[in-house]
Amino acid sequence: MALVTHIAFIGGTGPEGRGLAYRFALAGHEITIGSRKAERAAEAAVEVAEHAAGATVRGVENADAAQNAGLIVLTVPHTAQPASLPALNDLVKDKIVVSTGVPMEFAGGRAAIVPLPEGSAAEQAQALLPDARVIGAFQNLGAAKLWKDGSALDQDVIVCGDDDDAKQEVMTLSEEIAGIRAVDGGALANARYVEAITALLVSVNRNYKKTTGVRIAGL
Ligand SMILES: NC(=O)c1ccc[n+]([C@@H]2O[C@H](COP(=O)([O-])OP(=O)(O)OC[C@H]3O[C@@H](n4cnc5c(N)ncnc54)[C@H](OP(=O)(O)O)[C@@H]3O)[C@@H](O)[C@H]2O)c1
Repeated sequence: MALVTHIAFIGGTGPEGRGLAYRFALAGHEITIGSRKAERAAEAAVEVAEHAAGATVRGVENADAAQNAGLIVLTVPHTAQPASLPALNDLVKDKIVVSTGVPMEFAGGRAAIVPLPEGSAAEQAQALLPDARVIGAFQNLGAAKLWKDGSALDQDVIVCGDDDDAKQEVMTLSEEIAGIRAVDGGALANARYVEAITALLVSVNRNYKKTTGVRIAGL
């Protein structure tokens, strides 16, 4: 198991947060679901705990979640980051913060990446949380497959970050999800390419009526 055992999800009440929380609960982690509203967090926590049969899952407001966990996963829409992340900076000092965000919108019937001044949702998160060690990961894992059951996903998680120890920790963590291989994607600035792949996957999913993921060949 990765060094960190207690994982919190900021905005963990949405499908991506619940899906990842479920998978890490299955792997034996203590889980905290964060929300703007403690009641919503508590409801989501009950659902995840029931789905993961007997897991330890709590639901609290985002700030409490960020304060108490050893590793934080951001599962809010990227549009929510500028208003919601700065208040968490002191609470996540020196902690690993994983950015799952994809700055995507639907325009003219297709998924497209919204350019951000920082270059990616992950770099935006790092700018808003300067005291955290931000790592980009999980952007290509669709929520529905994460949540459906605990079966192997047979996909890569490309992990990007500027802190090598933090990146290694997130790679180890990723491989606790059944069927995941972690791939070192280099610097945090490369998260923009990983995020953009998700927009491509949305089109591929639509064309083939499948839920697809990423596998890097040649490794
Ligand atoms: N869905 C997917 O398949 C998928 C796949 C790959 C990556 N992602 C990424 O994962 C992240 C979460 O995706 P999602 O589909 O779970 O998102 P979502 O359902 O739209 O939002 C997740 C949670 O964020 C909180 N939130 C929403 N607006 C907010 C605001 N203005 N300020 C603060 N909190 C707000 C809400 O929690 P409360 O109301 O409880 O506070 C909500 O339940 C996104 O960045 C997305 O790009 C998603």
